[in-house]
Amino acid sequence: MWEEKTIKEVLFTQEQITARAEELGRQITEDYRAAGKTPLLVALLRGSVPFLAELVKHIDLDIQFDFMDVTSYAGTESQGEIKILKDLDTPIKDKDILVVEDIIDTGMTLTTVCELFHTRGASSVKIVTLLNKPSRRKTRIEADYIGFEVPNEFVVGFGLDFNQKYRCLPYVAVLKEECYK
Ligand code: IMP
Ligand code: MG
Repeated sequence: MWEEKTIKEVLFTQEQITARAEELGRQITEDYRAAGKTPLLVALLRGSVPFLAELVKHIDLDIQFDFMDVTSYAGTESQGEIKILKDLDTPIKDKDILVVEDIIDTGMTLTTVCELFHTRGASSVKIVTLLNKPSRRKTRIEADYIGFEVPNEFVVGFGLDFNQKYRCLPYVAVLKEECYK
């Protein structure tokens, strides 16, 4: 495989991710059904697309989804500044939003996005993330649904990129340091 020389360690295989997405989908279905709600899934481009595609197969509700492109993340350091590159096409007033993210790192992106959704009159805002990197958090934000916790290392695959590469790997892996340092 083209990527093999640059991968240090596979953290989660495709099978593990699928199994976890199934569990999360079931939990989301139960929770929203119990509350009598149907979420509008908002996926943050581009990293969350493979996870969204996996997750929606396992949510047994009449859901819709929309996309937003918000952050600039050059290289491996979060910028702490959010710009809306592509806004939602759907009005969200009185909607129950479930934000779909690839990874929560500092939490800056999601804090800003969730505040914006509240300002626009969403009736609830919850978060589902494939990966959580709690060691680097700079805000109080926590996800409602988490696929896996990851250590403080730069990870790629299943949507996550390094300079737009590696997004299409069917697994999540740690990149060798010499590849990004
Ligand atoms: P935050 O605002 O610092 O939470 O950054 C979130 C965004 O940074 C994610 O949606 C990713 O696009 C990117 N990011 C954070 N950590 C990693 C990583 O380890 N690998 C790839 N992208 C990452
Ligand atoms: Mg992202």
